[in-house]
Amino acid sequence: MITILIIMLSCFSTNSSRWYSASLQNNSAVESFKEVQNFSPILTIDPEQYNYMAAKLKEGDTESKYTNSEHRKQEEHFKYIIHQTQHTTFKPKRKISRCREPPRRLKKLKTDIPRDSRFLDIFEVIEFDHVPCTSSNGLEGLCLHEYDCQKSGGTNMGECADGYGTCCIVQFTCDSRSASPKGWFTNREFPLPTFDRLSCTITLEKAWPEVKQLRLDFLTFELLPPNSGNCEQDQFIITGQDVNNVLPILCGINTGQHVYVEVGNSAGPINLSIQTVTPESRIFAIKITQLLPNNALSPPSGCLQYFQEEQGYLVSFNYRDISDISIGKTSSYLNNLNYAICIQRQPGSCSITYKNAGYMQIVNYDGEGLPILPPRQAGVEIFNCPSDWLLISAVRLCGERLNDGSAVQDFSFDAPVTDSAVGPIMVWFRSDSVYTGRGFKLHYQQNVCLNAS
Ligand SMILES: *[C@@H]1O[C@H](CO)[C@@H](O)[C@H](O)[C@H]1NC(C)=O
Ligand SMILES: *[C@@H]1O[C@H](CO)[C@@H](O)[C@H](O)[C@H]1NC(C)=O
Repeated sequence: MITILIIMLSCFSTNSSRWYSASLQNNSAVESFKEVQNFSPILTIDPEQYNYMAAKLKEGDTESKYTNSEHRKQEEHFKYIIHQTQHTTFKPKRKISRCREPPRRLKKLKTDIPRDSRFLDIFEVIEFDHVPCTSSNGLEGLCLHEYDCQKSGGTNMGECADGYGTCCIVQFTCDSRSASPKGWFTNREFPLPTFDRLSCTITLEKAWPEVKQLRLDFLTFELLPPNSGNCEQDQFIITGQDVNNVLPILCGINTGQHVYVEVGNSAGPINLSIQTVTPESRIFAIKITQLLPNNALSPPSGCLQYFQEEQGYLVSFNYRDISDISIGKTSSYLNNLNYAICIQRQPGSCSITYKNAGYMQIVNYDGEGLPILPPRQAGVEIFNCPSDWLLISAVRLCGERLNDGSAVQDFSFDAPVTDSAVGPIMVWFRSDSVYTGRGFKLHYQQNVCLNAS
């Protein structure tokens, strides 16, 4: 029998990504394959990791940064697969547009590999899509071979790819430890809320030493609200990241938000912890993605949030006032915030315009404890906004209207604020240790460049 090498093509993160998955079904064939010691029966390579390794090998950088022998062994396997795939002039026949079509049946690509290749003698090549799928509990998973799923520490939750694949979810539970590059941190009962008092920590090892950032997506996040801007009851705490990456402790409702965690200078592990004080209902499902330096999702260093679309919404934490589980809520931003929201500049964009799209309320008080601005008015610069402010286009903005005074001088009106600065696009938000308001929900729109005449 012929041992099978399944080469999986994927559109999962970037269109050119290819997943390689080697499935050795015949042990005597493995035996005869002495140059790869301890070849795993199944080996899947993330396209991102593949590209990263391939680039490293191309540069002649073969020195391993891994200290863990298990990691080193894996790395040898990856190098081997990269070597093989680069020497077989393998060309996918399929076009990128097929990503949106339903998964196809396994297809042999044997003819794409030169006849004289030694590779061909032992392996058969089959293609299979690693597309995202929705699991039986409503989380995003990846369509994988069942064996790959088990090996990655995942759980099979539903079928995909005409039954050739299984919708694979890696779910982290309280007090678990994992090095999985992607997974979900949820309350145990998800998609139902939990009613337990929680002291729940997951310990995340870096999947590869080169991991630079984590992206956390809050599909659902409902904890008890802050008291006067302080997360005194429930807390979501991240520890173990880079020492200079200060992250806010979060609470309240943050469904739909995301944050990035810098870990490039930390050996790990990184702990994510949910602490609650009372046995009431809470719910959370946080998607965790470990990012290598060249990942398409990676923001510039230090951005807590990153938006890559031409337009969208920037929303402060705990702004949302809708609860799916009827949790007590107080929609307000938090104290002691100091963070950057970054926006990826579109290729043809020269400026960006922000508009108030919600109930903006960024409050400032004087020494006597009186509000500095009257209600329903925009504040600009340091005398209006000494302690809590948004910084857009190097101007401090606060109050209950968004208006920097450049287009409309009546500060009781909202007015679009346009930033035409060159370079990285960022919005900063600061708050001090007392007094908080509702927060902000801004719409941003990148503007196309007008050709200078
Ligand atoms: C396994 O592979 C070896 C060599 O490739 C072959 O000689 C042998 O017959 C195969 N065994 C089975 C059970 O297919
Ligand atoms: C992470 O959690 C583990 C286990 O609870 C603990 O031993 C370790 O000290 C924690 N590390 C950090 C940085 O909080």
